[in-house]
Amino acid sequence: MKNETIFFQLFEHESSTYTYIIGDNKTKEAAIIDPVIETIERDLKLLKELELKLLYVLDTHVHADHITASGEIRKRTGAKTAISAIAGLDCADLLLEDGQELKLGNKIIKAITTPGHTNSCMSFYFEGRIFTGDTLLIRGSGRTDFQQGSNEKLYQSVHQKLFQLPNETQVYPAHDYGGFTSSTIGLEKKHNPRLGESKSIDDFKKIMSELKLSYPKKIEQALPANLKCGKI
Ligand SMILES: [Fe+2]
Repeated sequence: MKNETIFFQLFEHESSTYTYIIGDNKTKEAAIIDPVIETIERDLKLLKELELKLLYVLDTHVHADHITASGEIRKRTGAKTAISAIAGLDCADLLLEDGQELKLGNKIIKAITTPGHTNSCMSFYFEGRIFTGDTLLIRGSGRTDFQQGSNEKLYQSVHQKLFQLPNETQVYPAHDYGGFTSSTIGLEKKHNPRLGESKSIDDFKKIMSELKLSYPKKIEQALPANLKCGKI
């Protein structure tokens, strides 16, 4: 039987970012999530080879560690760029609200606001998979120390929204630094050392306050560019 769902996971090694292509095999309508400017040619070539009609370029948030390819992909494909309404970007075609649905053929991408890493973080649910951006990472979480980050909000987003999904839901984050490619909601509930079910909000706050993270290398270039959908 032909697989009805299109799914590709792509990697950008400098920022350890995952870009995803998802779609409906019947209509060939597709979306790309978190494309990176450095790998735009690879991604556009793959879309062409797969004969996909790109409808949407989705960003899970305003990234601080790399420049988004969203604006450039829009220019070259005619796809619409989309990000959370909370980000309030003038350059985006669609400003997404919590629960908003986007169609790919007869399949649906559901946007879910999951603030905490940044105020405008969004996760996207599609056909048994949740694309969690930097909200929930595999056995980890995004940092909360800039871009209106909030430990309380991140903990609530994960526990009250993402952990409400069925345990078998596959988790695909925006980054992984340890070689993992995916997880499940059930595994993260059980084994996430920061956010698992055995961790309280106070445990999470303590863990986050003890992280000694360096500032992202590219933040000075990435943030202003990404506020313009990647225009440098
Ligand atoms: Fe991020």
